[in-house]
Amino acid sequence: MKVAFYFCKMQNKPIGIFDSGVGGTSIFKEIHALLPNEDCIYLADSKNAPYGNRSKEDILQLCIKNTEFLLHRNCKLIVVACNTATTNAISYLREHYDIPFIGIEPAIKPAALNTKTKTVGILATKGTLSSLLFHKTSDLYASGITIVEQIGEGIVPLIESGQLHSDRMESLLEKYLEPMLEQQIDYLVLGCTHYPYLIPILNKLLPENVTIIDSGLAVAKQTKTILDANDLLNGSNNKPNIQFYSNTDTEVLKSILGGSFKVEYLDF
Ligand code: DGL
Repeated sequence: MKVAFYFCKMQNKPIGIFDSGVGGTSIFKEIHALLPNEDCIYLADSKNAPYGNRSKEDILQLCIKNTEFLLHRNCKLIVVACNTATTNAISYLREHYDIPFIGIEPAIKPAALNTKTKTVGILATKGTLSSLLFHKTSDLYASGITIVEQIGEGIVPLIESGQLHSDRMESLLEKYLEPMLEQQIDYLVLGCTHYPYLIPILNKLLPENVTIIDSGLAVAKQTKTILDANDLLNGSNNKPNIQFYSNTDTEVLKSILGGSFKVEYLDF
């Protein structure tokens, strides 16, 4: 049975966005830049991060909880701003809730289409790399291409604990890039929404011929397309109402947002 949550004028309702923590803000920023009139509610489930080391069933239950939180706040569309959550739970969410869901998956396709060395690196969580959806996408778009998979063990906890710019992060990344560079990758796909925040460090560590692929803008464009197709775009010129919620110490989320938004603690 599908659960419908339609009450008043849908166009004026907020976009809901959730992630296992602060990483999905990389998606929020793209959405807010492309759709500046839209109200948004962002939920950072940092208390349960990282999702990437959890079982599929665990990830699904957390996604259901996050979805219901956003639906009770009248969201008209939900962006699952987490590769791990998307690859493990989005088909269930789409089947059981009667609003559009936008997800994010590692962008294997553009990397596979453009690689000259026929070798592409992917950095993602264990939960994403072991998911059925990730394997289906790789089989579909990357036949004949060598994919060097690397689990980004430890990266999300460092970011969630405010250690994005740390020696520990730099040495972890150096270790993870080494096998990829040995195999001559020329594209590196970022398969986790926390990872775009690593781009300045990755640019220092990667040779110039390696292109980094991040799908944040593509997700924002898809959000706009789906809102438009469902007649859900907010046409008003009002200042948007943007709400951020975190269920841990709010300081990391505040700092990743550059201090430009208020963050509320939520006992969730
Ligand atoms: N931002 C999540 C993703 O895109 C991080 C997953 C985690 O919490 O391990 O996969």
